Amino acid sequence: MKRHIRSGIMALWLAICCMVTVSAFSESKLMVVSDLHYLDPSLFPDRDLFVRALQGGDGKITQYGKELLSALYQEILAEQPDALIVTGDLTFNGEKKSHTALAEWFGTVEAAGVPVWVIPGNHDINTPSPLSFTSGNYQLTEPVTPEAFAEIYADFLMPGEAGFSYAAGISSDLWVVMTDVSWYQDQAQTFGAFTDGHAEWLEETLKRALCQDIRVVTATHHSLLPHTRFAQESFLMFGHEKMAALARRYGVKLNLSGHLHIQHIAQEDGLSDAALGAFCIWPHRFALVTLGDDGTLTYDAAALHDRFLPEGFQEMSREWFAGIARNKLTVSLPGTGEENALMADYAARFNLAYFSGTYRKEDAAWKADPAYALWKKNQDSSFWQYMELVMNEETGDNLHLECVLPH
Ligand SMILES: [Fe+2]
Repeated sequence: MKRHIRSGIMALWLAICCMVTVSAFSESKLMVVSDLHYLDPSLFPDRDLFVRALQGGDGKITQYGKELLSALYQEILAEQPDALIVTGDLTFNGEKKSHTALAEWFGTVEAAGVPVWVIPGNHDINTPSPLSFTSGNYQLTEPVTPEAFAEIYADFLMPGEAGFSYAAGISSDLWVVMTDVSWYQDQAQTFGAFTDGHAEWLEETLKRALCQDIRVVTATHHSLLPHTRFAQESFLMFGHEKMAALARRYGVKLNLSGHLHIQHIAQEDGLSDAALGAFCIWPHRFALVTLGDDGTLTYDAAALHDRFLPEGFQEMSREWFAGIARNKLTVSLPGTGEENALMADYAARFNLAYFSGTYRKEDAAWKADPAYALWKKNQDSSFWQYMELVMNEETGDNLHLECVLPH
């Protein structure tokens, strides 16, 4: 009898060993969000003033920051990811109050069982104009220094090197290597830079991962690969070739970034940089990255679901973003009233499609639209030049990506 029990235990042990051998990796799911640009409502008691400022902006709908965070929290509960990765531009413009409120919200996410890992963006530390909107006036509020940032987000980053760079352990065999390339030592700059210090730290980190058979996904605020030819110098980090070379040498297949505010996936020589659309603009993107036990990685860009938002919110937010583009253009259009309305509407639709990652140059309807012909007569306009650049770029699938991570 004892022998039967012992052989049964032996068979079970062998079965477990086989399972371990077949399942080379643990399965993981990451949720990614970028460019929240949160402004704590206590900083805009004059809501009308703030809304007017946003109307002259780039589509952010930050006056509804609370509603957006509440919907994101519901998404997190529904998805139950192994971690929430936040790739910078946490706040509207670096206000200390916004940071502390956001850190408190991250605390509620962690209390729900989901670890949160953050890096700063160019709007977070030592910013020159962290404003509040009070009684008809813009007023400067307290910014954060790197030291204050470290203190506020102590639970959501690890003591690192090269700025706030560190390896976030997601599972026993997966790290997200958070690489802080933002430039804020004296005063925040728009650009990002991968310096020799970053290179030394990253190579050491990637070597450690390789030795321990740990898979790596990297994360930055600025782009690692070229995405678009317009305004590239402020989006693509300086030294990007160095970081990309290291990533390729150590088998990294995917970098998660933000900053562009455009949902766009760039690919070059086996390496992908998935720039996540800004959370603060329609359609309020987040991404899910799933890693299978066979080494497959899947990236899917999603948008906040209607069921987690106030009724009609997504449609209202789409119209807000479209309206900003229309209003900016209408003042400078030279045609008749009817023509101008067609052109402004076309530009707004084009912008929505491009920013949400759904524009495809193969879609013949864009050039067949009568408004396209009207724009063609206005080739000196900055919108035409922007549209021509975009239309001449290759477009792939900007929402979905699959690759296999090496052993
Ligand atoms: Fe941003």
